[in-house]
Amino acid sequence: MGMGIAEMALHTMPGAFAGRSPASNLFLGTDARRGKRNTNSVPNSRALQGLLKIPGLRSVRQQCQRIDDLARVTEGNGTWVKDAVNKASQVFGDATLQGHAVGGDGSLNGGAVKPPPQRWKVSSIEDEAWELLQESMVHYCGSPVGTIAANDPNDSDPVNYDQVFIRDFIPSGIAFLLKGEYEIVRNFILHTLQLQSWEKTMDCHSPGQGLMPASFKVRTIPLDGDDDATEEVLDPDFGEAAIGRVAPVDSGLWWIILLRAYGKCSGDLSVQERIDVQTGMKMILKLCLADGFDMFPTLLVTDGSCMIDRRMGIHGHPLEIQALFYSALLCAREMLTPEDGSADLIRALNNRLIALSFHIREYYWVDMKKLNEIYRYKTEEYSYDAVNKFNIYPDQISPWLVEWIPPKGGYFIGNLQPAHMDFRFFSLGNLWSIVSSLATTHQSHAILDLIESKWSDLVAEMPLKICYPALENQEWKIITGSDPKNTPWSYHNAGSWPTLLWQLTVACIKMNRPDIAAKAIEVAERRIATDKWPEYYDTKRARLIGKQSRLYQTWSIAGYLVAKLLIEKPDAARILWNDEDAEILNALSTNKKRGKKVLKKTFIV
Ligand code: GLC
Repeated sequence: MGMGIAEMALHTMPGAFAGRSPASNLFLGTDARRGKRNTNSVPNSRALQGLLKIPGLRSVRQQCQRIDDLARVTEGNGTWVKDAVNKASQVFGDATLQGHAVGGDGSLNGGAVKPPPQRWKVSSIEDEAWELLQESMVHYCGSPVGTIAANDPNDSDPVNYDQVFIRDFIPSGIAFLLKGEYEIVRNFILHTLQLQSWEKTMDCHSPGQGLMPASFKVRTIPLDGDDDATEEVLDPDFGEAAIGRVAPVDSGLWWIILLRAYGKCSGDLSVQERIDVQTGMKMILKLCLADGFDMFPTLLVTDGSCMIDRRMGIHGHPLEIQALFYSALLCAREMLTPEDGSADLIRALNNRLIALSFHIREYYWVDMKKLNEIYRYKTEEYSYDAVNKFNIYPDQISPWLVEWIPPKGGYFIGNLQPAHMDFRFFSLGNLWSIVSSLATTHQSHAILDLIESKWSDLVAEMPLKICYPALENQEWKIITGSDPKNTPWSYHNAGSWPTLLWQLTVACIKMNRPDIAAKAIEVAERRIATDKWPEYYDTKRARLIGKQSRLYQTWSIAGYLVAKLLIEKPDAARILWNDEDAEILNALSTNKKRGKKVLKKTFIV
């Protein structure tokens, strides 16, 4: 198979790809990979900045791989787009959706670069947010493919915040979907798929196939053999350049969740049905479902493999990853097209769903009752029938928890390992457990009860604490390695992250308690725009803008927008949540009735 020009260029760059994506190989012909010349494309301002730094560059000419050229999707005359928009407008009852998603010729990507949004007088926080979100859009060969992590014009050293992060794009993508702007989400899904599992290496080792990058950047590089020409390439970072070299386990899981949301919102199922998309999805699943040494159904990951991408003592089986994993498994099951050879994968997926929900619901849950049980645990129980299966020493119960746990309410702990329960409350993991129905209905309500009763700790002056409480003193030294960015009540160490507002809103709407989210949105609105949309806030009550917080952080902007849009049209939140699965529920109650032995057998995949 021939190598695309962009691809060849990357082969010559230091630290560049050593292989190519099997998902894309499946589908692409030689010509299709070569891409088309597009002299009209408009690079975004950041790409141009990069371009200007290249010495000896005389003119700007792009050589691009357009996603539809690459994959040769049969788009027909684009009528599905119009149908989809009509459907979406019906769902949202919003006549203004009409025409939003479709380029002038009705095609999604047919060279129709949307003109910049009209500059209207900013009349409200929401309008300002929408305008800023539009400005954060990153273009590749003239088409929008994502949003930049932070877009502060006064930041002279953006580090990697000038990249498109997969996890950061999710609220942006949802905001665009809810506004009927489907093109950018579709492009994002297909372009990141192209980046999946290229064999990037770190010290001669490459990550598992199916890994999605943490982020990517549009780079403009000189075209080989032509001094006057440049081309744009997408350069992914799988963690080999990221601080701490962390592998982004959550990227692929979020990608699957966004793919489903795209289909549900736009009505366009042709993306998820594509062979390359199906293959990409299977590769993520295979990577997650692969056998290892583990005894637990939860995914075993290193520290920093999710939103908290630094050392914070969450290696092992952190809740956030488990909730996203569960959600992605359910979303993928809905989208996988049945075919020969996929039966084993579906079987493994179903078994894992059952085992995972049992494990989390049973062993991660704490409330007043459970705390009393743990406090009186016997230890060193050798047997199949042990009550204290993980050999938890009651002395581990943190003093803060005894004071903190409310009489009504409960939550899933942050992590569970042999002789170790991390009792910290992690917001995203708990919220996404509600959204994905990993939590039972009772547990879901209890989590929201806890958020309500601990409002001054978790919401205070800016929603929402990433976790609670902070690691302090000796614990901070040992667990974070004395990380100066993660000092107590700052950043990942119990800082407050406005982006979490959107996940809170989806969870509240799902449980029919939108008033909680509405209250949190009101709190955010008091400061967020005046403070220039910070990435995070510091101190126990979130009173100060984070010490090293970026400003104009896109997922703070998009998170707020999604929360607002969903509160106005709560039905639209369905594109994100998973209903309780009757089969899983059945399997769990049957297993419970039959006793532990059957349960054990059922779980061997
Ligand atoms: C920080 C956050 C991470 C986010 C990235 C870009 O590293 O911890 O979750 O994706 O910034 O905003």
